[in-house]
Amino acid sequence: MRIAKSKEDLRASLKDLRAPSDKVVLVPTMGALHEGHASLLRHARDLAGDGGLVVATVFLNPTQFNNAQDLDAYPTSPEADVLTCESCGVDLLFMPNPDVMYVSDHSMLVEETSLSTTLCGETRPGHFAGVCLVVLKLMNLVQPTDAVFGQKDYQQLAILRRMQRDLDIPVLIHAAATVRAADGLALSSRNARLSPAQRAEAPMIRQALLAAKSDYETGLQAPTVLASCRAQIEMLTGVSIDYIKLLDASTLKLVTPQSCTLVLAVAVFFGDVRLIDNIELQNQG
Ligand code: PAF
Repeated sequence: MRIAKSKEDLRASLKDLRAPSDKVVLVPTMGALHEGHASLLRHARDLAGDGGLVVATVFLNPTQFNNAQDLDAYPTSPEADVLTCESCGVDLLFMPNPDVMYVSDHSMLVEETSLSTTLCGETRPGHFAGVCLVVLKLMNLVQPTDAVFGQKDYQQLAILRRMQRDLDIPVLIHAAATVRAADGLALSSRNARLSPAQRAEAPMIRQALLAAKSDYETGLQAPTVLASCRAQIEMLTGVSIDYIKLLDASTLKLVTPQSCTLVLAVAVFFGDVRLIDNIELQNQG
């Protein structure tokens, strides 16, 4: 596996490694890699096949953090990340510093204006503009044929698909299923910051989402389902809800009678650790 730290190294490595007819599959990450990222990387390896290239990036992107403390507290593990990438069959790992990615007077915004007005976009202003900016830059640098993102970040995936569509970016976006611990907690780099007591309670988020799905799909009305899910999460100790919303999955707007697939999305704080999760519900009507 090659490692590039500058744009010049990245371009030179891509020139050496890429074969014109083969796939180049990009997996952007912010590092602190866990089994969830490993599954994205393995998915990318499968997509790329024997002749294709898997390019992973590890970059803790400052422009997507609206809160400096959250950025400072974000875990990092660069040495372990290199080993994870190697063991998952990555061919080229790009690990730039912030000053490599952003010149000091950078002033471009990449703003999505519909899907990002709710959920994390509402409670973390500017977050998705930062995500879109860095992903677009990484796509421009790597020029992948394909890119893989996780479904845990449901809204992010929807926005990146919209960016690809609306800006005509020649890349196929693939979604990889959320990887969970045996007790159902969605894997996240932030889980490492939970106390043992918080870690023991955190799987209840998944339990509440599963109960909501079953309630909705056996005929309970959406507002009742949402209220009951909220009540279950509110019962957890030391938890505050950032949001819990039931939306049309394709528009991320209010559910209408025409909505076929719904998404129930939650963000909760365990102390200062913010966790997100989601589940899709099918309209039985
Ligand atoms: O999902 C993430 O880890 C980040 O938002 C991403 C897509 C790597 C952009 O920094």
